[in-house]
Amino acid sequence: MELLSITSEFFPLIKTGGLADVAGALPAALAPEGVNVTTLLPGYPAVMKALQEGEPVHEVSDLFGGPAWLWRGRCGKAPLIVIDAPHLFDRPGNPYLDASGRDWPDNPQRFAALAYTGAAIARGLMPGYLPDVVHGHDWQAGLMPAYLHFSGDAADAGTTRPPSVMTVHNLAFQGLCDPGLLGALRLPPQAFSIQGVEYFGRISFLKAGLRLANHVTTVSPTYAREICTPEGGMGLDGLLRGRGTALSGILNGIDTDVWNPETDAALPQRFSEGRLNDRTANKAALCARFGLEPDRLLFGIVSRLTTQKGLDLLPASLSTLRAIGASVVVLGAGAPELERAYAQAARPGEMGLFLGYDEALAHLIYAGTDALLIPSRFEPCGLTQLCAMRYGCLPVVTRVGGLADTVIDANEAAIGAGVATGFQMDHTDSASLDLALRRVAHVWGDRTAWERMQRNALTAEVGWSRSAARYAELYRGLVA
Ligand code: ADP
Ligand code: GLC
Repeated sequence: MELLSITSEFFPLIKTGGLADVAGALPAALAPEGVNVTTLLPGYPAVMKALQEGEPVHEVSDLFGGPAWLWRGRCGKAPLIVIDAPHLFDRPGNPYLDASGRDWPDNPQRFAALAYTGAAIARGLMPGYLPDVVHGHDWQAGLMPAYLHFSGDAADAGTTRPPSVMTVHNLAFQGLCDPGLLGALRLPPQAFSIQGVEYFGRISFLKAGLRLANHVTTVSPTYAREICTPEGGMGLDGLLRGRGTALSGILNGIDTDVWNPETDAALPQRFSEGRLNDRTANKAALCARFGLEPDRLLFGIVSRLTTQKGLDLLPASLSTLRAIGASVVVLGAGAPELERAYAQAARPGEMGLFLGYDEALAHLIYAGTDALLIPSRFEPCGLTQLCAMRYGCLPVVTRVGGLADTVIDANEAAIGAGVATGFQMDHTDSASLDLALRRVAHVWGDRTAWERMQRNALTAEVGWSRSAARYAELYRGLVA
């Protein structure tokens, strides 16, 4: 089966978050299921530069305001189709933001072009390639089902119309724009309705996808339930409830080759379940780099700094960290006010801080800290708890979304049964966080219990095999 995956991020070419990891890992995970994935990506400079065996195969004379070429090529073993449209994508850095951190004003056109091209390919635009199913990720691909649905001739290609899947990785990002752009986005007037792209008087790319795709998935079973409630639905819960069995949650995995403590080139010391003590060399390296005490309990944070992640709470909990004799190392970037709060809170001996994005340091934090803090207010899936577990670092998470689905809390029953893999907290608030920090310190004091948890975490199934089989089953069902 041929699958076209439409995404704005793809690890290792372009990444701002977990979407890139997922889109980058799925092709290899689906191959054993008999699903051949081709990925459609915008031709950002980093993508054009890294494209292997690239060749231009199809010219588009006017793609939302300028000429474009579709290139075929690959990244490693993954086949790619890249949209080389310099007027839309030849901009360095973050794919969505300009140098001052503001959304590019033409983001609606840029990502409409991505979705439009995907729909056109699905309808036979490229000679010799016709996908059986087309799968869009997040708001950036959200208009794809709309172009398939409303295009008599809008997607300027053949008459086939393969089934579509939309995956929502985060309902908070909806791709909203002014209804006056309808024509510029090449959507017909009838598309602006409650059955189409209209959302409270505006155009919502994501809503269009959720309404019009043949099937909607999200990235964990618990998040699939949460987004059907008024509390978690961000205004879309009614629509999502209405999708019934055409909405499902399929848990993310991580690429266990990229995230492998036995082979990881970013680590001063590689280790395995049988050589857990070797982790100490990584902790020592991390502590030396940040001026921290290596024999204390060490927490880590690897995250976008946003209120979603609940990390506004940590500065106020530093006194609790001090009281339990622990320290913390933080790798993050994001909201300027949070970056400022962390810069003020960082102290030698107590909190090490790197503000920015650093893939190698992320690996070292998973491999060298004892526990990872993820007090998210909501979390569609979350990948950092999976990376942490794979490296024997115990996640401390709120009981929401994919965090609830992947971490087994160290309650008495789970410790007794020898199955705990981390710590769950009830709420994203200071009292819950402080309680969790103290619970971690308590178990850390019991080496036998702690090491048992580390081994459970390290050997937990965090890869893609189960979920890849679910995606494949979904695709097969749609084609049949
Ligand atoms: P989200 O996509 O909401 O940001 P996820 O947990 O799904 O959260 O994925 C985050 C991914 O980004 C993980 O691979 C994590 O290691 C990585 N990451 C997050 N922040 C940073 C950072 N500052 N530097 C390096 N990697 C980061
Ligand atoms: C989003 C979510 C995160 C999820 C990731 C990949 O960025 O915030 O929870 O893991 O997408 O699906």
